[in-house]
Amino acid sequence: MGFFSYLRSSILSKIVMAITGAILVLYVIVHTAGNLLIYFGKDTLNSYSAFLHSLGPILWIIRVVLILSAILHIITSIKLKFENWGAKPTKYAVKKYLKAKFSSRTMIWTGLMVLCFVVYHLLHFTFRTTNPQHYYPEFYQPHNAVSSVILERFDVYRMVVLGFKNPLISLVYIVGVIIVGFHLDHAIQSMFQTLGYNQKHYFPTIQKCSTGLAIIIVICLISIPISILLGLVGGGI
Ligand code: HEM
Repeated sequence: MGFFSYLRSSILSKIVMAITGAILVLYVIVHTAGNLLIYFGKDTLNSYSAFLHSLGPILWIIRVVLILSAILHIITSIKLKFENWGAKPTKYAVKKYLKAKFSSRTMIWTGLMVLCFVVYHLLHFTFRTTNPQHYYPEFYQPHNAVSSVILERFDVYRMVVLGFKNPLISLVYIVGVIIVGFHLDHAIQSMFQTLGYNQKHYFPTIQKCSTGLAIIIVICLISIPISILLGLVGGGI
């Protein structure tokens, strides 16, 4: 089979969607857990960020896998959508449409909005082009230092706090993360369905777990801008 001939096979396309989707979902779960370290204070979050940056080539392998997964996920989803639009409508089409959940009917649109949010997010926190004035180095003393060595690292804590103190930026994140949640809700269950876990007796449980996980991720992430706006985190900055 040629490099892109998978595009001609619907089943293969759905498997590509499920595998690339699983990689992206896994990243969001790990990233959410990492972001929650903000509640343990400046030193914990900055040490975690410095540790990630110190991974060097491993970090780049993770980034390449993520970028390739995102590209394949987007190309395949657009191809499946065009296929769906081109398909002959059946007499049950209207009924099925009414039965389908809101999040499942809007996957392509929430997906495109997630893409816009991630592009903004990368420009904000990774490339630091939208608010370069929030980018500071931190001078710190390592815990295990024998003499009074002072090292420099990136102050990710200060950058996040200064960013979210702006209500407009916080609002963009809160809305963006809620859209990510809608996308994840359907994505997780549909991934299990594609991988064959669609039997009648346990699929409702998978649906509930998928919605539950999406809600937990949304609550954890939006709690960060909300806590900063309320002055519960980073009050001294
Ligand atoms: C309140 C919500 C979020 C916060 C506070 C947050 C925080 C951050 C920060 C601080 C960085 C830069 C880390 C560093 O350079 O040390 C980052 C990078 C990133 N975030 Fe988020 N994030 C949030 C939500 C999300 C969501 C929902 C997604 C995906 C849908 C996402 C995807 C990414 C990606 C892909 C990177 C680049 C990682 C890399 O440099 O390799 N983030 N985030």
